[in-house]
Amino acid sequence: MELLDPAPDFSAPLAALTACHRRLSARLETLLRLGAHLLGVGADDNAQKAAASVLAYFRQSVPQHHLDEESSLFPRLLQEARSDTHREQAFELVSRLMVEHLAFDRAWETIEPQLESVTKGEVPSFDPIDWRRFVDAYRRHIELEERRLFPLAQHLLGAHAIHEIGAEMEQRRAPPST
Ligand SMILES: [Fe+2]
Ligand SMILES: [Fe+2]
Repeated sequence: MELLDPAPDFSAPLAALTACHRRLSARLETLLRLGAHLLGVGADDNAQKAAASVLAYFRQSVPQHHLDEESSLFPRLLQEARSDTHREQAFELVSRLMVEHLAFDRAWETIEPQLESVTKGEVPSFDPIDWRRFVDAYRRHIELEERRLFPLAQHLLGAHAIHEIGAEMEQRRAPPST
């Protein structure tokens, strides 16, 4: 439950990214349940709340998470991968994950207006198989990052790089100064 989520600890950015994956996984699960609910029950109050929760998370937290990886983690990983083997691993992983981020952004462009309709109490025209594909692909992405990317980062990045990544993640979430 959202209220019980501990505040992210940016001094341990890889753990913070993993915690973000857990919250993302919960929203993906909600999206799957929502698909079935819309077909069986319709866009009732529960469906509207679920759609709003998924929308809010994908609009605010997912873009930040992708930036944490693309702007803070990936460049440092590529920089610190000095042996041929590590360079090859880092390049292969980063290029694959970035292409997947783009694919998620594109798929989201279709799902977002569908969820908007649900928040207004309407059942949109949608293909539940597309939602399932989106969820499965994201789950595989998370699994790959946790099984290969984060351990490689843990192995290659020194304390200074880890500190910089955490500071940038924190800055990304700071309220804008007016
Ligand atoms: Fe990612
Ligand atoms: Fe991630």
